[in-house]
Amino acid sequence: MKIAIINGPNLNLIGVREPEIYGNRSLVEYLNELVGEYPDVEFSLFQSNHEGAIIDELQRIGFSYDGIVLNAGAYTHYSIAIADCIRAITAPVVETHISDVQARETFRHVSMIKDACATMVAGFGLDSYRLAVDWLIEYANEQ
Ligand code: DQA
Repeated sequence: MKIAIINGPNLNLIGVREPEIYGNRSLVEYLNELVGEYPDVEFSLFQSNHEGAIIDELQRIGFSYDGIVLNAGAYTHYSIAIADCIRAITAPVVETHISDVQARETFRHVSMIKDACATMVAGFGLDSYRLAVDWLIEYANEQ
């Protein structure tokens, strides 16, 4: 089984950026540990601060992977292009957020990608990624 974890803008700064919201732990370190816990899953990890690069990566893996964990960062709230891309590919996508976006500023309550995604996980800190991976494994087993 193949799962891609795709992170958008500023997620390379998790561990440093607004620790009161996102915590002190580096996301790269967390994800490297996480992938080691699933020996039967082949993971691909990708991060970019650029909308087009995220779309290129979604298109690259979106027809051959079994699932995608996507934290599109702020693009979540306004990228119709990423939403269109999620609709275009065949792999199920889990909209994933570290923080509880619904409990934050109102502009974060809007998700342009929500309806294009299979489900959404938010507010569990870095463990949102683990829950998203578990959801995709269960989903694949049900197919
Ligand atoms: C985020 C929430 C977004 O609103 C924000 O722009 C981010 C991170 C999260 O993981 O909680 O960059 O996606």
